Amino acid sequence: MYIHIAIGLAFYGCVAADAPVVEVTSGRVAGTTVEFSHPDVATQRTVNIFRGIPYAEPPLGQLRFQPPQGKTAWEGVYDATEFRPICPQPVYNLLPESEPQSEDCLFLNVYAPQTQSGSLPVMVWIHGGGFLWGSGSSYDSLPLSAIGNVIVVTINYRLGALGFFLTGDEHATGNYGLLDQIAALQWVQDNIAAFGGDANRVTIFGESAGSISVDFLLFSPLAEGLFERAIMQSGTATMPSFPLTDKALQNRIAHGLGKVVGCEDKTSEELVTCLRTVQAEDFNDPSNPATNIISDAIGEQLEEGPFAPFVDGTVLPENPKDVVAEGRFSRTGIDILMGANADEGTFVLAELLPYTINQTVPTVSKSQFDVFFPVFLFDPAKSSSAAHDAVKLMYVDWATVDSDDANYAQALSQMIGDQMFVCPTDLSARAYSEAGSKVYRYFMTHVPATSVWPISWMGAAHYEDIQFVFGYHFLNLTIMPQEEINMTLQIMKYWTNFAKTGNPNLPSTGNSKHENWALFHVPGLAYKELSVDMETKYGHKTRECALWNDYIPSLIKRTENCDECASAAEDTSPSVFVVGFITSLLYKLFVVDV
Ligand SMILES: *[C@@H]1O[C@H](CO)[C@@H](O)[C@H](O)[C@H]1NC(C)=O
Ligand SMILES: *[C@@H]1O[C@H](CO)[C@@H](O)[C@H](O)[C@H]1NC(C)=O
Ligand SMILES: *[C@@H]1O[C@H](CO)[C@@H](O)[C@H](O)[C@H]1NC(C)=O
Repeated sequence: MYIHIAIGLAFYGCVAADAPVVEVTSGRVAGTTVEFSHPDVATQRTVNIFRGIPYAEPPLGQLRFQPPQGKTAWEGVYDATEFRPICPQPVYNLLPESEPQSEDCLFLNVYAPQTQSGSLPVMVWIHGGGFLWGSGSSYDSLPLSAIGNVIVVTINYRLGALGFFLTGDEHATGNYGLLDQIAALQWVQDNIAAFGGDANRVTIFGESAGSISVDFLLFSPLAEGLFERAIMQSGTATMPSFPLTDKALQNRIAHGLGKVVGCEDKTSEELVTCLRTVQAEDFNDPSNPATNIISDAIGEQLEEGPFAPFVDGTVLPENPKDVVAEGRFSRTGIDILMGANADEGTFVLAELLPYTINQTVPTVSKSQFDVFFPVFLFDPAKSSSAAHDAVKLMYVDWATVDSDDANYAQALSQMIGDQMFVCPTDLSARAYSEAGSKVYRYFMTHVPATSVWPISWMGAAHYEDIQFVFGYHFLNLTIMPQEEINMTLQIMKYWTNFAKTGNPNLPSTGNSKHENWALFHVPGLAYKELSVDMETKYGHKTRECALWNDYIPSLIKRTENCDECASAAEDTSPSVFVVGFITSLLYKLFVVDV
């Protein structure tokens, strides 16, 4: 019975005679074979690529706002030669053309080197984009799989309201996007051997929201046993904004969404039933915190985006922030490699102050700084004037503070980057290491010759690590100078060595200055500086991170009952949806540029 035809999947009656065909639990899939080679690397390898394999039933109709369901078996051979649609997400005017979108988007892609030498380690990529944007298919993993000789799997997962809507009661419990990630990892367990992969050597890796997802999966009992190693690039469960925790607020947001899309005045149950009849794309704009649509609908200023991972008691039994704070991290058998970049805050600055985009050096005046720095503080620092003073003390350049033309751009972007990315990474790395996990830390300081951002001053910005990890040079997406070619090869080696053995140093690379990535311990605090020289260093941004992770929380505890401290902070400007800004800017700029 060809039930699958009814849901619109395309099948080949026959496939190209030389196409690689693999039998997975739901049926056979036919991919393509690519010969990888490039003049700047000695590796030549044949890689089988399978695009757009469904790993769950399409989450349509009654399955909207439900955990992913197992994929029904198909007959014949599934055509896995082309990417399938990406999950519904907002589109921007700036985008000349975007990939096709469909709510039927639970697909993954497999890059499998042909090998005679036993089963290969597996790396599963969880893309970023603030739980609102992105896709697996936009990360071409041919160079990483070929050069590293690993299987790479890239996945889609549900985004925005379709991925994370919840009513705060039993009628819609949220976290479908995280459950999709878990289903994809289960699919890898069940099927990767058929592609030549080793299901006992799975590394999950991700960047930004993908990295936050990786960290969440370290706290989810449902993901236990599905991976052995984890790589987190610029995002942790301890960063501000995630996860959401307030059931009553999510219920108001749910009804706000109903109001926006024509499902007003209903019980939770009726609301969910009604929302299942709404066009998928109608959820895109309300999901985007930068549009303020949900805020307006519920008449409440939201501190966070409306739809994101939620502490539901099941997928996330409790808030990882509490587990970390109380030193109760328990998944210590998982090897961890994690880090952040030197200029994580620059793209937030560019979004906040668009006039800086065309400047050669961004300028922020003293008065602008005074207005904007509280906007970019998160709670608890946001609502404490004592904390504001402490932050200023740390980031303002006091040598130039009396000069009217002092430039505060660096102060602002460093403050943003440390608070959102660098110091949460430090907090989590310390907690995992102290709990007994094996942790490798990195900090990327290299400013790439070709930025993925169309702005000249971004530095070692958020997202710049991607071109090195995925080897964009070998796709000719960026043309790197020789020192960067060496650097990207070394980074791919570190990442794939880690996937193979849990140690980025092995096997020997023959380039001694690149070796010796020491384990991160407290004390010691060793980390690898990702740059041309790849030096091992110790104690990264310890002063800044002591401010965010220790000093401010204790300051707030001590000033809790101080009326003066609180009242002064009430005058600060309204919240800005930082994460929405980040992801929208990232998406706009990146897709336009590359
Ligand atoms: C920056 O320059 C480009 C091209 O010159 C222009 O199209 C764009 O509007 C400018 N952006 C801003 C924010 O001034
Ligand atoms: C990339 O550029 C090199 C020349 O530098 C060329 O030999 C190669 O075929 C190109 N590869 C792709 C995928 O376009
Ligand atoms: C790149 O690495 C090779 C050895 O692998 C070395 O001979 C060469 O000097 C390096 N080039 C640069 C610019 O670092």
